Amino acid sequence: MLNDVTYTYPGSIDPALSHVTLSFPAGWTGLLGDNGCGKSTLGRIAVGALTPDAGTVTAGLVSALCAQETEISPDNLTDFALAWDRDARELREALGIEDDMAWRYDELSHGERKKLQVAAALWTHPDVLVLDEPTNHLDAPSVRTLTEALKTYRGIGILISHDRDLLDALVGRCVSFEDGGLRMREGGYTRAHAAWEHDRAATMAERGRAKGELARLSAERARRTDLAARSDARRSKRHPDPADHSAAERINLAIYSGQDGARGRLSTQLDSRIAAVEGRVAAARVSKRYDGDLWLDAEPARRRVLIRLPEGEILCGEGTLAFPELFVGNTDHIALVGANGAGKSTFLAHMRCLIDPDLPVIDLPQEIDAPARRQVLERVRGLSTAERGKVLSTVAQLPASIRQRGSSRRSVL
Ligand SMILES: Nc1ncnc2c1ncn2[C@@H]1O[C@H](COP(=O)(O)OP(=O)(O)OP(=O)(O)O)[C@@H](O)[C@H]1O
Ligand SMILES: [Mg+2]
Repeated sequence: MLNDVTYTYPGSIDPALSHVTLSFPAGWTGLLGDNGCGKSTLGRIAVGALTPDAGTVTAGLVSALCAQETEISPDNLTDFALAWDRDARELREALGIEDDMAWRYDELSHGERKKLQVAAALWTHPDVLVLDEPTNHLDAPSVRTLTEALKTYRGIGILISHDRDLLDALVGRCVSFEDGGLRMREGGYTRAHAAWEHDRAATMAERGRAKGELARLSAERARRTDLAARSDARRSKRHPDPADHSAAERINLAIYSGQDGARGRLSTQLDSRIAAVEGRVAAARVSKRYDGDLWLDAEPARRRVLIRLPEGEILCGEGTLAFPELFVGNTDHIALVGANGAGKSTFLAHMRCLIDPDLPVIDLPQEIDAPARRQVLERVRGLSTAERGKVLSTVAQLPASIRQRGSSRRSVL
């Protein structure tokens, strides 16, 4: 249970979470939202890995967090590797974890690390278990076995995931980060998303109605003001004292300031109705979503064949990986598929060495670790103002969450 929790990362200006009140019942709850909206932060706070700046979190529960990143090994990895109880053995078997894997964590593929992370977390039978993107990096059979393993968990489970199938298979309710705060809805992803779409359509319809009414009331106010001005001008200016040059001016002022008896009261009533409808328009706010395509302005290279890889084999883990002669053409789009630990990243790294250094290559790693993050920041800092502007405007085209950093994420559930 989180009560009025606020958290700002050291060095940040905006809070990552602001006044969040949320309680999780037993069973799995999905946590949904755009990148950067605060899901992982909430997960870290729920297990006590981060202490909120303000607000409280229920204490005294055994908690475990299976982090989104795989670079740091789980705290209890050695205990889990040495354990020979039934649970440990069953988890290792269910998730295909070999006995030696825990001892060479740093050499493992990201998928293999993910399996170890999840198994070590499940093994502690925590009261609260937060899984942050557990299927990232996992191949299809591993996702199936993981889903079955997670179904056996009986505590309070918080599942942060963009994997719709996993959410549908596991969770009984979803909490989503939205513009106005956090919102809980019953069901897995499909049901909760349908409810979200329904709510959004209803809000848009209400906004349309309120705007229509606002236009009608504003027109009515303008009409009455105009009418009043004209009739009063006729009535009160009929015999003005020719010596009193300011009389007409004073009359007009009385009309416009709404202080003129019954007309004034009517005008005040209209004003308060308009203010109420303006409130309805503001409340029925639907944020625009910008989940558009991103375009890379690229042309095929002049040379037809970019990589020519003679048949061969490379060292991969304990064994070797053999491959036939391969060519990569200038317009090819190639998928490299295979089970976790099959050697895809190792093979790519090998191929990368054979690419002509003159060829421009964009290389996006599977996971951006701390040194890579620092490197990106340094590169951005080193850019000219114009280049940095171009980079930041590309960032601005990415989905809404990045631009929502300034909004407060106040919520009570
Ligand atoms: N260690 C940190 N230091 C400073 N800011 C951070 C840190 N970690 C996260 N943030 C910022 O806090 C905000 C919330 O981040 P968080 O990782 O909780 O998002 P998320 O919803 O889990 O996103 P994703 O879907 O990408 O995993 C983001 O704007 C992020 O940039
Ligand atoms: Mg996250």
